[in-house]
Amino acid sequence: MTSDPYVTIRHVRPVCMSHRSSLIPSFPTATGDGLQTSLSAGLRPVSEAPASRAAGRLGMSEGFAHVPVMLDEVLEVFDEVDDGVLVDATVGGAGHARALLDVHPRWDLVALDRDPDAVRAATQQLAVFRGRATVHRARFDELVDVVRASPAATTPVVAVLFDLGVSSHQLDVAERGFSYRNDGPLDMRMDPADERSAYDIVNGDDEETLAELFAMHGEERFAKRIARAIVAQRPIASTASLAEIVADAVPAAARRRGHPARRVFQALRVSVNSELELLGPALDDAISLLAPGGRTVVLAYHSGEDRLVKERFRFAATGGCVCPPGLPCVCGAEPTVRLLNRGARLASAAEIESNPRAESVRMRAVERLGAPRSWPSRAN
Ligand SMILES: C[S@@+](CC[C@H](N)C(=O)[O-])C[C@H]1O[C@@H](n2cnc3c(N)ncnc32)[C@H](O)[C@@H]1O
Repeated sequence: MTSDPYVTIRHVRPVCMSHRSSLIPSFPTATGDGLQTSLSAGLRPVSEAPASRAAGRLGMSEGFAHVPVMLDEVLEVFDEVDDGVLVDATVGGAGHARALLDVHPRWDLVALDRDPDAVRAATQQLAVFRGRATVHRARFDELVDVVRASPAATTPVVAVLFDLGVSSHQLDVAERGFSYRNDGPLDMRMDPADERSAYDIVNGDDEETLAELFAMHGEERFAKRIARAIVAQRPIASTASLAEIVADAVPAAARRRGHPARRVFQALRVSVNSELELLGPALDDAISLLAPGGRTVVLAYHSGEDRLVKERFRFAATGGCVCPPGLPCVCGAEPTVRLLNRGARLASAAEIESNPRAESVRMRAVERLGAPRSWPSRAN
């Protein structure tokens, strides 16, 4: 492997092509960080990133705060795995990645994150493993291309980790607009170069679409009332204004069960970042990349996400078998993995006590069955 970490100049996919560009007014925006995004894929050393804004944001990345969730359980799943490459599809502040490289001295790391702040933080955190780690600014549905183009392309992939959702850093920085607790612009883009922000959805989508979004991705009981209140009070520019409008729209009794805006903010974040659309194909790719005996672990933080992981893993574990349960398979289905647990594993009470973020986590893991290694190909 080469000795310098790299940032991928990622390929911008048409996930949100139909949406107009963000019109967020008045707040300092998180865009224009200095890392280039381009329609042509390629690799560029971090040190060549344009200096000005990148340097400013590097300072912020130095304070990147995130405690890795279910770290002991993640280490345990990967404990017996052979030497090879770990792909961390959501490297964030590199808490999991660092610990895994520490306990597996013969592993190399290919790390991805779509957030430039995370890329910079992880690059700093992983500098100590010089020569073993490359960090790429990319979405995890691009992981096949990233691994193929990385110096580790010819080494077996033995481990893939997805620690989904947002980092504490993203929630804590008010200007990113993820949190109902900090006042900031309605943004929520993990990659500030993406076109559509929460502002565009909140101020552009019609009432019915908003209600559907809050019900589907937030499981919000009062989705219709909230959508009506939002439409009546547009334009809404800040997280604090939205949180207040949501709180006022729900019955007083509902306000006592946690922050009333939590589910609406979750739904908006899932939509802004196309979180569920990107996850399914990425899980399939991760399984296809794995060498026999290699393992994939996913940490999911909301039910829609965990349901998708469960379905994808179950499909891979049965090969899509349609034979009646209990009878020998005659339909020709070929399982590609075995499930490592019957259901999802949860964080311990002690971890939840010290890190409340662990309360909602669901961990699922699979092991690749023996199969010749071939690169997955995608139709699109
Ligand atoms: C929970 S944090 C990961 C924390 C990390 N495991 C650690 O120990 O520091 C999730 C990270 O995934 C990134 N992310 C979310 N969706 C992504 C996607 N589709 N592709 C790449 N990165 C993504 C976010 O930007 C965030 O930095």
